[in-house]
Amino acid sequence: MSPGRVSIREVATLAGVSLGTVSNVLNRPELVAPPTRERVESAIATLGFVRNESARQLRTARSRTVGLVVLDIANPFFTDLARGAEDAANEAGIAVILCNSDGDRAKERHYLTLLAEQRALGVLLVPVEGAPRRPQALRQQGIPVVAVDAQISQTLGCSVSVDDERGGEVAVEHLIERGHRRIAFVGGDNREHQVADRLRGAQKAVTATGGAVGLEVVGTSSLSVAGGRQAGRALLALPPRSRPSAAFCANDLLALGLLQELTRAGTRVPTDMAVVGYDDIDLAEAGAVPLSSVRQPRYQLGYQATQLLLEETTDERHRHRKVVFEPELVERESSRTRTPPRRRAKLAVPLPHQPALASAGGG
Ligand code: RIB
Repeated sequence: MSPGRVSIREVATLAGVSLGTVSNVLNRPELVAPPTRERVESAIATLGFVRNESARQLRTARSRTVGLVVLDIANPFFTDLARGAEDAANEAGIAVILCNSDGDRAKERHYLTLLAEQRALGVLLVPVEGAPRRPQALRQQGIPVVAVDAQISQTLGCSVSVDDERGGEVAVEHLIERGHRRIAFVGGDNREHQVADRLRGAQKAVTATGGAVGLEVVGTSSLSVAGGRQAGRALLALPPRSRPSAAFCANDLLALGLLQELTRAGTRVPTDMAVVGYDDIDLAEAGAVPLSSVRQPRYQLGYQATQLLLEETTDERHRHRKVVFEPELVERESSRTRTPPRRRAKLAVPLPHQPALASAGGG
């Protein structure tokens, strides 16, 4: 009997179960008790059953795929996010089609159209410039969209993101606590809402000092290592005495490029300039100077977004939700610096209240 010709009915008969149970084993195995599932899988193997995917797609008008459209596959932030999405999808027997918009609206539109033509179950979208303009169009075709690393109106769908404004604030508060009074914000051109939100948080932290701290923005042509090197050249071109003593970079790739440029020029990090990044990608701690960074739960962003999308496609009780993660600063060598010297008088003799210095022998 040629495998392609075995029907689902024959599998059900051999396993002694209903057609629906066989369908669940194929599409929602988690719904089937293990002993029953094993009986069906054994019947499938014995008969050499192979499902007819194209017939299934025609019947159900949906492929067993979800689309994931990210801004830049060269950025490890999105690789880790895609890993989480793929694990959640695979647990449900669903495949992920990864698309890279390169931050370009036309490419994003092209991929969204392609995913609709492929009858994807749904789309996980990291929208260009943060404002997804297409979820309505896809939703009208019955294709749900979950915004990832961005927020959309809950009437349109679910979203999973990080409070980037708080992330920027935390990064600059950390540098202020380390005594820095002139801080550079190294970011792209703010087209990306994530960068604009981080800058707003940085400005909030500086404003809270009542003018004691200055923030200067160093724009870059991209959010990449090359952009970080570009920012490094701009900062090094300043006279040493008017250079910021710290830089907060909108993402880790920028920070790694800045570190490269500073190191090449012999500028000590953190002594001459402290550096903080954003994302906490694996490379952040692997650098010659381990990088302080604001951690984003990259894997969780992808995993949870996919779970929300699959819930929307399978559970009529689904209600759209907005999930927002809190960022967390991870302090490492690149900003674990001495507090820059203040006017501190040298103590000639210990003040009366100071305990006598313990003798070397501790005796
Ligand atoms: O796409 C630029 C940045 O935005 C990434 O590095 C990540 O931080 C995302 O949120």
